[in-house]
Amino acid sequence: MEQLILYFKNKGIPSEELDELVNIANGNESFFRRITQRRLLREPLAYIRGYATFYGRKFDVDKRVYVPNPETENLVRLLLDDLGAQSSVLDIGTGCGSIAITAKLERPNSKVYGCDINPSALEVARANARRHKVDISFFESFYVDDLAIDAPTHIIADMPWGNETNILGTDDLLELHHMPQEAVFHPKGVLESYRELITSIQKKNWKPALFFESGRVGESHVRDIIPEGLNVQYVPFDNYSVTVVRF
Ligand SMILES: C[S@@+](CC[C@H](N)C(=O)[O-])C[C@H]1O[C@@H](n2cnc3c(N)ncnc32)[C@H](O)[C@@H]1O
Repeated sequence: MEQLILYFKNKGIPSEELDELVNIANGNESFFRRITQRRLLREPLAYIRGYATFYGRKFDVDKRVYVPNPETENLVRLLLDDLGAQSSVLDIGTGCGSIAITAKLERPNSKVYGCDINPSALEVARANARRHKVDISFFESFYVDDLAIDAPTHIIADMPWGNETNILGTDDLLELHHMPQEAVFHPKGVLESYRELITSIQKKNWKPALFFESGRVGESHVRDIIPEGLNVQYVPFDNYSVTVVRF
């Protein structure tokens, strides 16, 4: 084992990751070799370990879903602050369900829905909801087009951003290529999924507050995609932003 650890250390795997991989392998040398080789090829550690931590809780993740970003906790915090007694929340592009489940656990009186274009991701989200013992309805949908639910008061969205130069501080481009590509890159580019989402919401004639992750995109570019007449608030953080649109 010592020699193997040294081999992978020399290949560039950081010591703290090697420590975790040794822990996961639990003395099984051939398993250690396999998982560390996977890590060498930049498979996200969260897939190897089988879970990601978000808002202080564990969510099972695997190749069917995007690995939640720590930055997205800012988006969730802003949403939670805006919820009232009668609020209902729809999480678009729910992935492993981390946002929807967090919203339900933090605001148990709110009705929470989640949807995704990817049916395999929904399997993971439903399993995570069972694990966290929360009642959330998950649907397969293209944005909100295929949903037959009452208009939610709040919509939260962390959508594909479509440009490899626009990744968040905690992202690693090679790791992103291991994730479902419909989760990461929109073929038409940055902010296109939010433009499409807004159109989808308008077609329904819903009037929610929409909280979305605008990431590293500057305020003027974000404002460019919001139709006239909607109230827009751009909330900057360190190298990251959230946008709130009130319909
Ligand atoms: C960046 S991931 C975010 C996943 C999760 N919300 C999170 O924060 O970890 C984007 C998610 O949007 C989903 N998605 C992409 N296009 C979509 C669309 N048109 N309608 C609904 N979901 C979509 C992807 O399948 C993926 O799960």
